[in-house]
Amino acid sequence: MTHIVGFGGYVPERVMTNDEWALLVDTTDEWITQRTGIKRRRIAAPDESTLTLAGNAARMAIKDSGLTPDDIDEIIVATDTPEMYTPDTAALLQDLLGCRNVPTYDLGGSGCAGFVQALDVARARIAFSPRTMLVVGVELITRMLDWSDRSTAVLFGDAAGAVVLGPDPGRARVLEVVSGTDGSAAGILTLAAGGTRNPFNRQTLESGEYNRLVMDGRRVFTEAVARMSQAVSDVLDRIGKTIDDVSLVIPHQANLRIIDAVRKKLQVGEDKVFVNVHEYGNTGSATVPFALWQCVEAGRVSEGDLVILTAFGAGFHWAAAAVQF
Ligand code: ACO
Repeated sequence: MTHIVGFGGYVPERVMTNDEWALLVDTTDEWITQRTGIKRRRIAAPDESTLTLAGNAARMAIKDSGLTPDDIDEIIVATDTPEMYTPDTAALLQDLLGCRNVPTYDLGGSGCAGFVQALDVARARIAFSPRTMLVVGVELITRMLDWSDRSTAVLFGDAAGAVVLGPDPGRARVLEVVSGTDGSAAGILTLAAGGTRNPFNRQTLESGEYNRLVMDGRRVFTEAVARMSQAVSDVLDRIGKTIDDVSLVIPHQANLRIIDAVRKKLQVGEDKVFVNVHEYGNTGSATVPFALWQCVEAGRVSEGDLVILTAFGAGFHWAAAAVQF
């Protein structure tokens, strides 16, 4: 059995409001609030990077677990905005934290579903051979976006969240994780430049393709609602529980309307669904572990609570995890 023994979370200090966005692009606080629920987001400082964000959350999670970097046996970093193209952010994080020469890898490209997918991989690794794992979800999306594109730029923010997982009893048990992918829907959310199909070059730079996030907002909306609510039902079925047994659902924080639609589909009250999208915007792979850390810190979850994590992301990927505190 996999246990969560430590939680950590970090957001940069700088707050950017919708009104500030309205000074940069043709938008309004009203438009952003009505369509997404987002009021403000955090923006990383120039001297911060994906690695420093991840490092801050990871140090907190390790400290919270009562362990030291020396105790970590494996590291996964879920991110679509890595520190650099090669090597992986996880290798750099191992060095930053002063861990031993343990295996590390990034889970990249799966957008906002990355952290819950990484949780699935980690629990399988621990079940196969007991070890202590650090799993981080981190994004510094605001540095990679086209700041002149109002249809995507206003949606995102920067953050990191982390957990330490191990085989010995801790604060919470990961009971079950379900995940899935529909690769035929890859086109509804892509940043296609930078790979071998369309490498970074003068043309992608001049055309602006290098940072152009292409999103079919309505398809993403529909898929997100259908996949997240199904994933929550599936994970509950697997553990023989119903939504009435759940104390709190922590969904991916992309958009308040998506969260509300999932909540209605699951027929669960507002008090049972955690929301922080108004404060932080969409922080990609970081939303779920950061929100989880906030809930633990704020006493929103206590012993005996069944908590469901769920996320969706580019791919199109989805996942849900059942966690028993
Ligand atoms: N401010 C003002 N107007 C805007 C803005 C903005 N920031 N962005 C787009 N518009 C305009 C469009 O140009 C369009 O104008 P037009 O009618 O003159 O062409 C109009 O608003 C409507 O645009 P739509 O894209 O149709 O707006 P929609 O109602 O679909 O809302 C949104 C867009 C919020 C993105 C919605 O589709 C949505 O919530 N989709 C889910 C996608 C999502 O949350 N993605 C998050 C990232 S993905 C992830 O987390 C995995």
